[in-house]
Amino acid sequence: MKIKQAEFTMSAVQPKQYPADALPEIALAGRSNVGKSSLINKLINRKNLARTSSKPGKTQTINFYRINEDLYFADMPGYGFAKVSKAVRASWGRMTEKYLTSRETLRGVIQVIDLRHPPTKDDKQMYDWLKHFGIPTIVVATKQDKIAKGKRAKHLKQVRDGLNIHGEDPLVAFSSETGEGKEELWSAILRFLEK
Ligand code: GTP
Ligand code: MG
Repeated sequence: MKIKQAEFTMSAVQPKQYPADALPEIALAGRSNVGKSSLINKLINRKNLARTSSKPGKTQTINFYRINEDLYFADMPGYGFAKVSKAVRASWGRMTEKYLTSRETLRGVIQVIDLRHPPTKDDKQMYDWLKHFGIPTIVVATKQDKIAKGKRAKHLKQVRDGLNIHGEDPLVAFSSETGEGKEELWSAILRFLEK
C-alpha cells in the first residue's frame, strides 16, 4: 500500500463520535503494552502518529487514523491491564465491545500477541469472542525482533496452538522495530478490504 496521506482524525468513547464517512475500518485489539499503536506507526511509516509508551495503558479511547481515502485504523485500549481501576477497565471493555459488535464498517480485527510468550487467558478469551461474533481476524505475533531467528518457528506454533487459530485466519510474525512482516500484513489487510 502506498501511503499518500495518514492522519489522526478523532478519538471516540461512544458511537456518535465514530467517523461519519463510511470508509472500511480495521481495529487493533491486544493486551496493554503489546505494541498495537507501534504496529500502526510501522504500517504507515510514521514514527509517532499513534502515541506509544513503555508504560501499559497509553491508549485510552478508540483512536481513528485515516489512511489515504482507503481505510481507517481504529486503535483501541488494551485489555488485561491491572494498574487501572476496575471501573476504568470495565468502561474500556464496554467501549471496545460496543464498537466491535455494532460497527457496520468494521471489516476485521488485527489481534496483536507477544511472540515471546504463550497467549494469555485474556488473549484466548478475546480470540474466542471475536470468533463467536464471526469477526474476520488477522493474528499478528509482534516483537519478533526479541526472539532469535532459530526459535521463531517454535514461538509462532505456540501462538497458533495456544489460540487454536481457525484455518481461514492469517497469522503474521511482525516487528515494529525492524518492519519484518509488514508486506505480509498489508496483503492480509487488503484481502479484508476487498471482501
Ligand atoms: P496500550 O496503548 O497501553 O494498550 O499499548 P500498545 O499495545 O499500544 O503498545 P505500544 O505500541 O505503546 O508499545 C508498548 C511498548 O512496546 C513500547 O515501549 C514500544 O516501543 C514497544 N514495542 C512495540 N512493538 C515492538 C516491537 O515490535 N519490538 C520491540 N522490541 N518493542 C516493541
Ligand atoms: Mg496503544
